[in-house]
Amino acid sequence: MNPGLRELFHRSTPPDVAPGQKITAEWRSPSNIAFIKYWGKRPGQLPLNPSLSMTLEKAVTTTRVTVVNEPLHPGIGSLNQQTGHPFLPKLQHLYALLMEEVPWISSWTLEVETQNSFPHSTGIASSASGISAFVLSLLSIMRSFAERPMTDASFYRAASWLSRLGSGSACRSVYGGFALWGATESVPGSSDTLAIPVDPYIHPDLKSLRDAILIVSSEPKSLASTQGHALMNAHPFAEGRMQQVDEHLKELMHAMKVADLDRMATLVENEALSLHALLMTSHPDGLLLKPASVEIIHLTREARKKGLPVFFTLDAGPNVHLLYPASHEEDVKQFIEHQLIELCSEKLVIYDRCGEGPVAVILPQA
Ligand code: PMV
Repeated sequence: MNPGLRELFHRSTPPDVAPGQKITAEWRSPSNIAFIKYWGKRPGQLPLNPSLSMTLEKAVTTTRVTVVNEPLHPGIGSLNQQTGHPFLPKLQHLYALLMEEVPWISSWTLEVETQNSFPHSTGIASSASGISAFVLSLLSIMRSFAERPMTDASFYRAASWLSRLGSGSACRSVYGGFALWGATESVPGSSDTLAIPVDPYIHPDLKSLRDAILIVSSEPKSLASTQGHALMNAHPFAEGRMQQVDEHLKELMHAMKVADLDRMATLVENEALSLHALLMTSHPDGLLLKPASVEIIHLTREARKKGLPVFFTLDAGPNVHLLYPASHEEDVKQFIEHQLIELCSEKLVIYDRCGEGPVAVILPQA
């Protein structure tokens, strides 16, 4: 089920784009970090379980899409002027899916330029920011040609739906604050096919939550995410995980409604460790944590016992995200500088925070 792309972007005839004319849109879109982890998928890029994430502020991808009317060479020919860019097939696949829904774009040729604010080697999910930035740019060009008026809410739903088909977690990056992807009884309107913003259910203080990303290893990811999700298909603990994640989500939504940081710490840390437990007990297994990751986890828990409101989460990799309220920013920085920085590769820490969501840098004139 898609949110009506055909109807939203309906045109009775293709738009009149003069030969050689260029139409450009550019969006800056952030990465996100999941508090409740999406792990495992069903055919059609649908999640096995619901997930909840915080959108970041500084870890962003800026993508410019330029449409040229060149019917002889339709589609996306290059990315950053390279025809062999590793990310290009993903964008081409997405464009092919979109053409099935909205055939009038099939004569367009696209030039795509993209840039990340963070180094590739940091393990920050560039697919979430990259796919959502591309989709938002492309859809805003299409929106400028749509015959019917479109609300922003419909536009973002379409962007989330299409982003999901490029990379699951990308559908959550379309919204600032906190986003939920996956149907769950805990949240009305939730869906497996797109993410929804959940800020109305969350205490406003959490919008200033900080995230310090401690780079333990800058080696390239040893487990591609498609491979990782496939490990859940025959996982001995899959059923238990589904039960656990539903309870975690319900409890976390409540803890976040009342900004109960202690309860959030317990749940978010348990989610991160559950993800790694699933990885470690799959066939083949994935042991992605490094000794320094485990050391940071221990030190973080010790600091919390002593009263510092800080907790961790992990992606499918060795780097550790420390989450803490803005009110303790300086204390946590001191803690990192004194006790954790030596455990980081080249002492690299990226200080990020909960962000406002994607920003349109250039919007096309119809
Ligand atoms: O969106 P993908 O396919 O890269 O998967 C992301 C999986 C995790 O980052 C481990 C969890 C999540 O929900 O983001």
